[in-house]
Amino acid sequence: MTPLIDLPAEARIVERLQETETIFTLRLQLTAPELAARYRFAPGQFNMLYLPGVGEVPISIVSDPRADLIDHTIRVVGGVTQALARLQTGEVVGLRGPFGRGWPMQAAEGRDLFIVTGGLGCAPSVSAVHAVLARRERYGRVVLLEGVRHCRDLALKSRFAEWLDHPDLEVQLAACEIEPSSDWPWHTGNVLTLFDELELKPERTLAFLCGPEGMMEAAAGKLAERGVNDRAIFLSMERNMQCAQGLCGHCQFGPHFVCRDGPVFDYATARPLLGKRGL
Ligand SMILES: Cc1cc2nc3c(=O)[nH]c(=O)nc-3n(C[C@H](O)[C@H](O)[C@H](O)COP(=O)(O)OP(=O)(O)OC[C@H]3O[C@@H](n4cnc5c(N)ncnc54)[C@H](O)[C@@H]3O)c2cc1C
Ligand code: FES
Repeated sequence: MTPLIDLPAEARIVERLQETETIFTLRLQLTAPELAARYRFAPGQFNMLYLPGVGEVPISIVSDPRADLIDHTIRVVGGVTQALARLQTGEVVGLRGPFGRGWPMQAAEGRDLFIVTGGLGCAPSVSAVHAVLARRERYGRVVLLEGVRHCRDLALKSRFAEWLDHPDLEVQLAACEIEPSSDWPWHTGNVLTLFDELELKPERTLAFLCGPEGMMEAAAGKLAERGVNDRAIFLSMERNMQCAQGLCGHCQFGPHFVCRDGPVFDYATARPLLGKRGL
């Protein structure tokens, strides 16, 4: 499907937050008022952010779907993300989107929702949490498990602080490595170890997973072992992207293109393709 913005449109940075040493959030506003008024996205979708002469990268949208500003939380990895990290409030980027098929929010209604995330891989799930909280009465239990490698790596700290205190959310954080001097009152160990003590009713459960592929594969396996149906487990996949519109083939995932058919796939579809290199 053609997105609202299929050629880069100017978006101004109205706020920049440094989340951790290597992770930052850009809060963007489309400069054309008619585009800003029409821009809508679904939880789990992404935009392509463009810097002329540098390149373009896919980045999940982490805002509340009801908000006017478009938030992106970005880890510095290579050329484009380094250049984005140097931008300051008031500067502009190019933005195309929104792209992709997001989370099945309607299918989650009336079910218990388990969201399992790893590191900044939590980004695609953030707008889903906002959407659930906006219509909280439609969902059963909402459990959010976030794991990071090192306690320093927790991004979106203010959002997690809010959610940890939220009476309608069950939130658990886990870090594999803790510094003795750090203030980490939560679980020490891999996020997957939290599964062992987790109570769940498989027939009521729907799960959203995002993060490193190995972590999603292991989490999906644990949920399936506990009796959750493969079609009730959803994974947000990442692949290198160029066009984001199903034209160039860079994001091929077996017979699918992640940009067009995903990034969210059910486990029944993704299972035979996980961890496979090449086509
Ligand atoms: C649908 C989707 C949503 C994404 N959402 C976010 C987000 O919210 N925040 C965020 O920080 N990043 C996100 N990413 C990843 C982001 O697009 C890449 O980190 C970015 O493209 C790297 O570009 P670069 O020019 O900075 O680095 P490059 O020079 O392109 O890459 C540097 C190194 O990172 C590796 N790399 C590049 N892209 C990826 C990738 N997708 N997965 C694993 N390794 C990669 C390269 O192979 C290379 O080794 C998302 C990716 C996809 C496909
Ligand atoms: S990025 Fe071109 S087909 Fe997906």
